[in-house]
Amino acid sequence: MKVIITGGTGYIGSHTAMEMLGANYEVVLIDNFSNSYPWVAERIATLSGKQVLMEEVDLTDADALDVCLARHNDAAAIIHFAALKAVGESVEMPLRYYRNNLIGLLNLLSSMIRHSIPDLVFSSSCTVYGAAENMPIDETAPLLAPLSPYGATKRMAEEMITDLASANRIRAVLLRYFNPVGAHHSAQLGELPIGVPNNLMPFITQTAIGKRKKLMVFGNDYPTPDGTPIRDYIHVTDLAIAHLKALQRMLNGKQKKSSEVFNLGTGKGYSVLEMIHAFEKHNGVKVPYEITDRRPGDIAEIWADTSLANKELRWHAQYGLKEMVTTAWQWEQHLQTEENLNPEEVSK
Ligand code: UFG
Repeated sequence: MKVIITGGTGYIGSHTAMEMLGANYEVVLIDNFSNSYPWVAERIATLSGKQVLMEEVDLTDADALDVCLARHNDAAAIIHFAALKAVGESVEMPLRYYRNNLIGLLNLLSSMIRHSIPDLVFSSSCTVYGAAENMPIDETAPLLAPLSPYGATKRMAEEMITDLASANRIRAVLLRYFNPVGAHHSAQLGELPIGVPNNLMPFITQTAIGKRKKLMVFGNDYPTPDGTPIRDYIHVTDLAIAHLKALQRMLNGKQKKSSEVFNLGTGKGYSVLEMIHAFEKHNGVKVPYEITDRRPGDIAEIWADTSLANKELRWHAQYGLKEMVTTAWQWEQHLQTEENLNPEEVSK
């Protein structure tokens, strides 16, 4: 059975491709390489020992996308990751985010209907809950005002997909990720932030290896036990497995509604300082850091109630903090040996 993965050479897309290939799906990756590299497709093929079809297409190019989906109109489903995801950048360049994330999705939905590809798994985010106060948060929580244009695109994308599913034009699963971290156990795939990382884990690994002088901890005056914000970090492989399970449930006709929503986290929250200390302890390296001002837009704490995904998808996050921090570190160390990468590009 053929499955199309947009954003297939990206961080979560590449790990999901590995799980899909492991479950014997035929995989077509679509990417425009705006935040990833063509060699990732070859790497996925080598690691899995399977054939991988790579299509270089920008989803905002409706004609090119349509030609591509016409070629793959035998696909059973699309897993849609391709999107811009830097919160701060979205505040500076909102139109870029609306254009890329929403016009890209609109083109994808139109084209999948035109070519009778029935099922969609969508990459959403806990950002749709906004500045929620009651933790843990479950899928019935109200969606508060988006905290950034990026958050607004995820919220609107969910609405577009839900409306289309309600009209019985597609079936869909919306997966709300909490904070994805870690890397493939082979240390051959992982997150590849271009430029200065926005997220905590790549900043920790780049500081530990010496690419950055020190990590800035954004605020220690939050109303949390150690004063630093709490997040629900989840290993990227656990996320990838959840995509496989959600897709199988949909393909097997087990969905209860035309579109379903699941939180994907571990259900446990860790503070920024806990993450730094776990990284130091499990990897035996130091992470120099300094406390600085709060980052605008950050909330004090968020972690997931994952009972719906546990029950309906029969999925539980398997990897704990130790695997998250050790695989992230192995990947950072491996990156030093990557000849395909232009180091200037990763550290600029
Ligand atoms: N942090 C630092 N220093 C850094 C980077 C991050 O102290 O250099 C802190 C942040 O202040 C925050 C925590 O580490 O408290 C996690 O920050 P990330 O940027 O890694 O993750 P966020 O929780 O801010 O963002 C994530 C996803 C977004 C999503 C958001 C929803 O990256 O895509 O969750 O809450 F929108």
